[in-house]
Amino acid sequence: MSVPSIAESFDRALRAAVPGLVEPAVRSSGRADLQADGLLALARRRGEDPQRLAGVVAGRIPGAVAAGPGFVNLTVPEDVLRGQVALRLADGRLGVGLPEAGTTTVVDYSQPNIAKEMHVGHLRSTIIGDALVRVLEHLGGTVLRQNHIGDWGTQFGMLIQFLHERGDGDYRAARALFEADTAFAERSRRRVVALQAGDPASVAVWRRLVAASFEHFTDVYDRLGVRLRPADAVGESFYNAALPQVAADLEAAGVAVVSDGALCVFGEEASPLIVRKSDGGFGYAATDLAALRHRVGVLGADRILYVVDARQALHFRQVFAAARRAGWLGGQAVHVPFGTVLGDDGRPFRTRSGETVRLTDLLDAAVAAARDVVSAKNPGLGGEELAERARQVGIGAVKYADLSTGRTRDYVFDVDRMVALTGDTGVYVQFAHARLRSILRRAGATPAVTPVALEPVERRLILRLDGFAAALGEVAAGYEPHRLCGYLSGLAQAVTAFVETCPVLRAPADVRANRLALCTLAADTLRTGLDLLGVATPDRL
Ligand code: ARG
Repeated sequence: MSVPSIAESFDRALRAAVPGLVEPAVRSSGRADLQADGLLALARRRGEDPQRLAGVVAGRIPGAVAAGPGFVNLTVPEDVLRGQVALRLADGRLGVGLPEAGTTTVVDYSQPNIAKEMHVGHLRSTIIGDALVRVLEHLGGTVLRQNHIGDWGTQFGMLIQFLHERGDGDYRAARALFEADTAFAERSRRRVVALQAGDPASVAVWRRLVAASFEHFTDVYDRLGVRLRPADAVGESFYNAALPQVAADLEAAGVAVVSDGALCVFGEEASPLIVRKSDGGFGYAATDLAALRHRVGVLGADRILYVVDARQALHFRQVFAAARRAGWLGGQAVHVPFGTVLGDDGRPFRTRSGETVRLTDLLDAAVAAARDVVSAKNPGLGGEELAERARQVGIGAVKYADLSTGRTRDYVFDVDRMVALTGDTGVYVQFAHARLRSILRRAGATPAVTPVALEPVERRLILRLDGFAAALGEVAAGYEPHRLCGYLSGLAQAVTAFVETCPVLRAPADVRANRLALCTLAADTLRTGLDLLGVATPDRL
């Protein structure tokens, strides 16, 4: 059952007290628990005295006082704070509602390319997409994962031909030969035609390539703990058969026209979207149009999220515009772009020799760094237990660092900063959680909300806990997982202040029970929140 937060109730009380108040603008404040300043604009519009209006409103809300030039400050009564803790604790969902119920969202994410190693560019899509999937599902939405794998296109002719001639599937070597040797390039082009026409020998080799890559992707997904399963992989090849129809329908509808032999959709941009090339071949854009049509028409999506590098913005603008003109897109299609992962030189992350960095190498480095941090904290720990905790901390650190960065910003991949125990890191939040679990393990008493006086740090902790659903709502509203990271890092700080100033186990029975209730709610909120980011919550750290 959804539990309205104190901020929501304050907002509602303000609206009820002042008919016509559109925007109460409730925020947290240094002077009170919450402050509303929306009365200022309203009073100005009506030619009223804002201070007088604030006074009248404050008189109608328990705990509220008028302040400053027309603010209403709220100091939340203790029984209200306690009531919120009790309600959230009693609810299996911590009081978070199901605002996404009834929606069907396709999330297109991860999207690695066959025959190439997954690299750091795919890391962001995988991690951000998975967090969005988890949050939307948690809020009651139906979510369909679609891993739009690059398993089709001219490069496969090149690869299959190279494999056929040299017995080697190395992408870079094939590329080099393709560029240097025109005869090989020509044989590769003929091979693509054969593949697309269903030539059994070519298809068999292609299948082998796909299967081998897939094993590698699955290993990475398992390591990352993301929820993509083989059944979620719907590669570009899946849409191949539908491409001629897509082209024909666009042309019949007058959305696409032939220009210089190519079938194009002209829009506001300088260059058109090419549906079919002049040689008759279909490319990336046609495939995305077919995919979109399938997702709306067959999968029943009312919203499609494309978690793809910001550098593909133009492509998606054009695809969405064409689909809308064709009448294929009634609902929402959203490009959810993200920035680039940089090396410490501030340039796109590459190895010393200029190659893209392999994802598995990055994860190895993070787990190794985490191992040092964990064993420094637990000198006795070793063996499988140390290895497991290093994995949870290291992988969690990489994911948290990625998710906590504003999505469209670039960031520097810095393993040491990622696994630091202080600062805005996954480890910091994991550690706050583990501290609470340690207290709860030793509790020896049942948590219960009791009518005891609250310390200032306890009030702050409760107000933070009360904002959980709002933070999830912000993630869903702007597809911004960093809102949840910001929330959890603030919660971890409130938890840290609480455990460092309020003794729990040594407190008198009624205070202890109440503090244990706070510990329980805070630990469960941290666990749920980190789980929605796909970050593990070990009980010990
Ligand atoms: N495989 C592509 C790449 O690595 C990304 C695919 C994104 N998804 C889509 N529907 N176009 O660049």
